[in-house]
Amino acid sequence: MCGIVGAAAQRNVLGILVEGLKRLEYRGYDSAGVALLDSDQQLQLRKTVGKVAGLEEAIAAEPATGQIGIAHTRWATHGKPTQANAHPHTSANIAVVHNGIIENYQEIREQLIAKGATFVSETDTEVIVHLINDLVSGGKDLFDAVVAATEQFEGAYALGVISADDPDRLIGARSGSPLVVGVGIEENFIASDQMALRQVTDRFIFLEEGDLVEVTTNGVTILDKDKNRVVRKISRITDADEAADKGEYRHYMQKEIFEQPKVIGNTLQGRIGKTAVLEEAFGTEAKAIFDRTRAVQIVACGTSYHAGLVAKYWLEEWAGIACSIEVASEYRYRRFVVSPDTLFVTISQSGETADTLAALRLAKESGYIAGLTICNVPNSSLVRESDLALMTNAGPEIGVASTKAFTTQLTALQLLTIVLGRRHDLTADREQELIEALHQMPKLCEMVLELDKTIEKVSEAFADKHHALFLGRGVQYPVAMEGALKLKEISYIHAESYPAGELKHGPLALVDSDMPVVVVAPSNQLLEKLKSNLEEVQARGGELFVFADKDAGFSSDDNTTVINIPHVPDSLAPLIYTLPLQLLSYHVAILKGTDVDQPRNLAKSVTVE
Ligand code: AGP
Repeated sequence: MCGIVGAAAQRNVLGILVEGLKRLEYRGYDSAGVALLDSDQQLQLRKTVGKVAGLEEAIAAEPATGQIGIAHTRWATHGKPTQANAHPHTSANIAVVHNGIIENYQEIREQLIAKGATFVSETDTEVIVHLINDLVSGGKDLFDAVVAATEQFEGAYALGVISADDPDRLIGARSGSPLVVGVGIEENFIASDQMALRQVTDRFIFLEEGDLVEVTTNGVTILDKDKNRVVRKISRITDADEAADKGEYRHYMQKEIFEQPKVIGNTLQGRIGKTAVLEEAFGTEAKAIFDRTRAVQIVACGTSYHAGLVAKYWLEEWAGIACSIEVASEYRYRRFVVSPDTLFVTISQSGETADTLAALRLAKESGYIAGLTICNVPNSSLVRESDLALMTNAGPEIGVASTKAFTTQLTALQLLTIVLGRRHDLTADREQELIEALHQMPKLCEMVLELDKTIEKVSEAFADKHHALFLGRGVQYPVAMEGALKLKEISYIHAESYPAGELKHGPLALVDSDMPVVVVAPSNQLLEKLKSNLEEVQARGGELFVFADKDAGFSSDDNTTVINIPHVPDSLAPLIYTLPLQLLSYHVAILKGTDVDQPRNLAKSVTVE
């Protein structure tokens, strides 16, 4: 998704801006641009379609320097990825970068055209810069013009604004899209994500909804949504940098898959003792909130939604607590009924997903006991706006396809199930059993990752296929859904997932030798039923790839490839069986030569709806 970087310093900021864009590349984008004020107070603009490397070439061909500037990576929403649509957009001497969507842009555009403005792009963003210029031409100072302009916008925005007529100030604004201020020594910055500025500072101000900010080399002035001057806390970030390096791995996704034993350990650290979950980990208010909880409503998107689906099985089966789950983009646009004493739970890697955030805001006015988020990014909007937060501690996830975020979410959700369950159907003995199993997780993950070479070989059977079917039963059905999402996301192979018992109700018609069927088959009470479903596939000439418990009694033959998985406790099976499916999609994508870390059309953090 779009990224913003801005800088005001007493040195040339071009390198800082371009490095910042590179650090935001993982979010997904299709064009990039930069605007600087040079020593003659002229706006220097460079924009390209494609990667930041292309922007660097454009800058090398026509060099520029400046001590104040803004830069952007654009993920197209209004208008194709073209140079004209790339940011920054300009009007007279003003340049603007924008993340988000201005929903009433047509109306503002018509008003501005009537006043003589000329538009050169198809973007909603261009109205922002023309409107600010119109207000400045009417006599407003640049900051006041940005304040007045934002009052007219409906939708979501994070903005960075500079003007050649006001060369010392960088203006920012945030409403619905994240923006942070990086605080340096006689230099200050803005960015849509603190990671973009880690090379220049470790001190950040996380702006709040409706904040406007004026950044100069000497200081930072913030107005809150009511236009009152406020001082916001400066946070020091010390641990976010490590993921900027792929180390020995070829891709971030691969690195993140192999990090799972370690980061699952991080999720557990400080949260479990020898025999029990320490519920203080959920925050000081948690005990009182959990005491009241009789039901759970989960809302999330994509992979995080799949984690929630697994948790539904756990909460109902182990804890005896009713759990509903819905994708955020549906939930936020329908009338829903809140049962008494229901805890609202969001799950998100980024903590900035627009639909999930909107659902939380709606939930806060709808009579839930409280909002708890399971999230990976400290200081993200979801964390700040929720009553309770349990951080997954997976470290930055750069690959667009979520891997370690999913398994650490499952780990955190298992902790939640236990603390809620002990107030309902979960006995102390069962809690102890679950904890003992959790302690084994990192080791078991390592054992499964040793199957990498075997799975690489298996992936060859998928490289020339156009479709694949993923099957699971019970709690393994969401695992199959996640496996299918991974394959389609990074290899562009159409993949569907079904509960295996649904096969004969339709999808069986698709099965032939061109449709590989992937099955997750741990040894559990549904195994025999699953085996019957697989016979239905074999009888139609389908090719099976079964990830099965080594003792489950499967054997490979002409149409069946069995990948033996070590025996694992039932409670861990959804986590463990996810890993080989991640490896499978990774290796298929390598064979197909796709962009593994930044698959086409996708963004890491979906901050627009
Ligand atoms: C997963 O591989 C995807 N990239 C995507 O589905 C993602 O999980 C979804 O956009 C939700 O993101 P979040 O966890 O940051 O809220």
